Amino acid sequence: MTPPLVLRAADIVAERPDGTTDDIHFTEALAESVIGHATRPGELVLDPFAGYGTTLAVAVRMGRRAIGIELLEEHLEIARARTGDRATLIQGDARHLSRLVDGPVDLVLTSPPYATGGDLAEDPLAGYAAGDGDYDRYLEELASIFDQAASLLRPGGQLVINVGNVIASDGSVTPLASDLVRVVDPHLPVLGVTTLRWDEPPPGLDGDYLLWFARPVG
Ligand SMILES: C[S@@+](CC[C@H](N)C(=O)[O-])C[C@H]1O[C@@H](n2cnc3c(N)ncnc32)[C@H](O)[C@@H]1O
Repeated sequence: MTPPLVLRAADIVAERPDGTTDDIHFTEALAESVIGHATRPGELVLDPFAGYGTTLAVAVRMGRRAIGIELLEEHLEIARARTGDRATLIQGDARHLSRLVDGPVDLVLTSPPYATGGDLAEDPLAGYAAGDGDYDRYLEELASIFDQAASLLRPGGQLVINVGNVIASDGSVTPLASDLVRVVDPHLPVLGVTTLRWDEPPPGLDGDYLLWFARPVG
């Protein structure tokens, strides 16, 4: 797992793509640390929730090959502008990951869309479109996506998920990190959990983590 790293709140603002307002707390320093630790030059990094392309941009800058899936065209355009043709970007739904990507992949590094517990007025896995989703179904769908990711990994390849526990507007905390460990571990054994340190913790999160899983060798 990665050496201790103090993430900087200023990087969230500095790295925010022009024209966007989202606070993505998945910074380049975090991606660099994981990719440097888990892969060698020339290896393939997959991000099934490519977002604005931080994983992919850092991977190609570090001499890795990179492929990303992103649901929303407006996010894909920003990711494409960052990577050019050095990364493969596919518009699609990560719930169908195994139809979209061929393995073997050396590292899956991602940060999924977040949800709070209970009924969900918006579906996080449909770009937060209005829907009749609920938290358990969201977890089941994430487990299926990471099961598909596991089947793309080479033996010994790792899945690393950045996720925080989410504080709802009523102050309740959804333990998304431990819930994800619980639903992904049956598909891919968990190696460990890194607690991320921030100089100023991002608002809305109660703890920020890297969850490490690995495909067994042999
Ligand atoms: C937290 S961001 C990911 C940040 C990303 N790891 C990066 O390097 O910038 C989550 C992204 O997942 C996308 N998304 C949500 N549901 C999806 C789905 N079903 N398939 C693919 N992408 C999805 C969202 O549009 C959003 O861009």
